[in-house]
Amino acid sequence: MPAATDQDITALATARWATTDDTRLAEIMPALVRHLHALAREVELTEQEWATAMAWLTRAGQISDDKRAEFILASDVLGLSMLVVEMNHHRTRGATPATVLGPFHIADSPHLAYAADMAGHIPGIPLYLAGTVRDVAGEAVAGAVLDVWHADPHGLYEAQVQAVQPRLRGRYTSRRDGSYCVRTVAPVGYSIPMDGPVGDLVSRTGVSPYRPAHLHFLVSAPGYESLTTHLFEKGAPYLHSDAVFGTKPELVVPFDACEPGATPGGGTSDVPWIRVDFDFVLQPTRSGGVA
Ligand code: BEZ
Ligand code: FE
Repeated sequence: MPAATDQDITALATARWATTDDTRLAEIMPALVRHLHALAREVELTEQEWATAMAWLTRAGQISDDKRAEFILASDVLGLSMLVVEMNHHRTRGATPATVLGPFHIADSPHLAYAADMAGHIPGIPLYLAGTVRDVAGEAVAGAVLDVWHADPHGLYEAQVQAVQPRLRGRYTSRRDGSYCVRTVAPVGYSIPMDGPVGDLVSRTGVSPYRPAHLHFLVSAPGYESLTTHLFEKGAPYLHSDAVFGTKPELVVPFDACEPGATPGGGTSDVPWIRVDFDFVLQPTRSGGVA
């Protein structure tokens, strides 16, 4: 066994990590070693800094659970999540762009009818979002499931509060003509969670922790690529400094203030409400199968 020196440790470690039969792992692990070592060399990492980094990772693990995803948050603020989204979603012209999932999606939200209210007792300005789901050829996509979730008017998600039932999330299904309608309350911009190691790090910099007001979507239909995306309020603060690099011009839409009266879905509102119109455009799976 050769003695490791700072001259040959990288070659030794990359060679060792390339020995697995799993060819993809044998590609990724040596690259990880190479890049980590290059980082340590580039910044001339001290032992104290290494220990600080290890303690930071330990705290990120300790604070994480089934509702708190500190490593995803770290990936988001470092721009890694958005890089991976961009590399993996090559868009057909006209398709709705994808963006980050974020750490607050909860699976198995309740199925809701067309225009059903997903806000329940949560106070806020009523918001109706309506449009169609179609494909890049302009055909209506019937039966698409729109999984929708967002923060409350204080900027908090279900995972951040004590909730006894699903809160500000639901799954809507597009109708035969591709139409869908979501009824909820207007979201606000908010700060990413700052009470953990990611927040500690952000606080030591001038990096903005804020996200512009948005709604989250996961749109899926057999034969089409699943679409993870957001809609952002046009003119909202932080659109140009989103803490997780998630904004895209195509996803910034007017949140139109409306007088009391008729709403999408055939109802009426006694109070002023907000209208958002958006058509989600899906692209076929490359294999033509289910995404
Ligand atoms: C979110 O939009 O829910 C989110 C995304 C990334 C980090 C924190 C929050
Ligand atoms: Fe969000």
